Amino acid sequence: MHCIAAEYNDFQRNVIMPSPPPAELVQRLTQHDQQHLLDSWDKLNPSEREVFLAQLSALDFAEIGSLLAETGTTSADEKPEARARRAAQPRKLVRLPNSPQEMAERHEASRQGEQLLADGKVGIILVAGGQGSRLGFDHPKGMFPIGPVSDNTLFQLLIEQAVARSRRAGVTIPYYVMTSDATHDETIEFFGQHEYFGLDESAVRFFRQGNMPAVDAGTGRLLLAAPGRLAISPDGHGGMLAALQQAQLLDDMRERGVEYLYYHQVDNPTAVVCDPVFLGFHVAHGSEMSTKVIAKRSAEERMGVVVDVDGQTQIIEYSDMPDDVAAMTDDSGELLHWAGSTAIHVFNRELLERLTGGELALPFHVAHKQVEFIDRDGQLQQPKEPNAYKFERFIFDALTHARGALVLEADRAAEFSPVKNASGADSPETSRRDMMALHAGWLRQAGATLPEGADVEISPLYALDADELQGKISAGTEFDGPVNLRE
Ligand code: UTP
Repeated sequence: MHCIAAEYNDFQRNVIMPSPPPAELVQRLTQHDQQHLLDSWDKLNPSEREVFLAQLSALDFAEIGSLLAETGTTSADEKPEARARRAAQPRKLVRLPNSPQEMAERHEASRQGEQLLADGKVGIILVAGGQGSRLGFDHPKGMFPIGPVSDNTLFQLLIEQAVARSRRAGVTIPYYVMTSDATHDETIEFFGQHEYFGLDESAVRFFRQGNMPAVDAGTGRLLLAAPGRLAISPDGHGGMLAALQQAQLLDDMRERGVEYLYYHQVDNPTAVVCDPVFLGFHVAHGSEMSTKVIAKRSAEERMGVVVDVDGQTQIIEYSDMPDDVAAMTDDSGELLHWAGSTAIHVFNRELLERLTGGELALPFHVAHKQVEFIDRDGQLQQPKEPNAYKFERFIFDALTHARGALVLEADRAAEFSPVKNASGADSPETSRRDMMALHAGWLRQAGATLPEGADVEISPLYALDADELQGKISAGTEFDGPVNLRE
């Protein structure tokens, strides 16, 4: 009897029933000129309809409508290009040390940062929800093999730094990983397969960001990826705020005594995770959000720049920076807007709490992109030109809400070589090359010799920096082939 009932339920789930869509939904879609979404309703089976209804009911058409009304800009009041023209150098700025006194200040900041870590006041946020479309890798980007000798993944290289920092500090540093629908399941499985790369599992929290639908740029209609499935994508790294709140992780941070969050992205294997100098300066300057920058290579380099506009520190995206403003120089011929963003930040937990408290929201940025979709005849279309708008929030917009924003300059060669593209600039090739040059430099600093052009990799678990390496390698050590120093 039970068996027959179960079979009947299966039958019901899989057989297409001639039931019309809910009248309230039809009315809502018609009101917003989105009734095309129901074209394939009759072909969906009951469980597909259920999933589709849930997707549609989560949509905020009023919000999408107002974003569309402002396409080509952010939803902020002023056009970004106009803002860029009023940009000045950030005021609260610590540049690379240039004197014994500045070196001493760095040492003091480092000491303070180490103390914050040892006191258990620091947590880590890794954002790994992006689709990595430019890299064209078929898995979460964190799973990309990047170790120049080991082929270890981005996840592993970054997490081993966190493990090494925890050991040095003598505490477990809480680790928050943002995923998205695009990366969640595979990421969790990957961490499990690798025993969390040595992290204390109880200190790791995964949280999933939200999505935003893609909208046809010509008609303003939402695109379908398949019958009964909207074309959606993650809502940007700024989606972190809502996602942290939804997963109640700000409470988790508070309960663990975490006051500062060290934020970095999954695509920069040379990012220094929990850099004590950065943490120390952040606190010493009474900053609520701090950001690391590097000097741009040229006016044309495609990086967001950190500037002050009307006394407020903020990041202007590359695409929002008019060429003539990007090319402006000071009296000594240096770029005026040289401070390229590395997307490494420190937040006070309290700022994140304020930003999730309901009154403040980060704006959406609109991007004109190529998005695959099915047309009204159910045919898959793969546009060659941008055809749709996508909407993302950027976490760096939190800077404008921070009470005190410090900008710290870092050395590009030591801290910034992201993996964005499949080839050319910011690709696996350049990132591996930069990592090898950095680590070869550490070895030579320690007095070791190695053949010119030898492949070199030093695991963070072996040495986190040149100083630590110096304590482990005796001067005069000769390496004659590829070097892969591991614990
Ligand atoms: P990017 O802005 O470079 O985007 O992300 P991406 O998705 O990795 O790559 P493209 O643009 O599709 O080629 C910078 C960092 O922000 C994270 C990414 O995982 C990466 O660590 N990110 C980006 C998110 O976590 N969520 C997002 O919605 C977007």
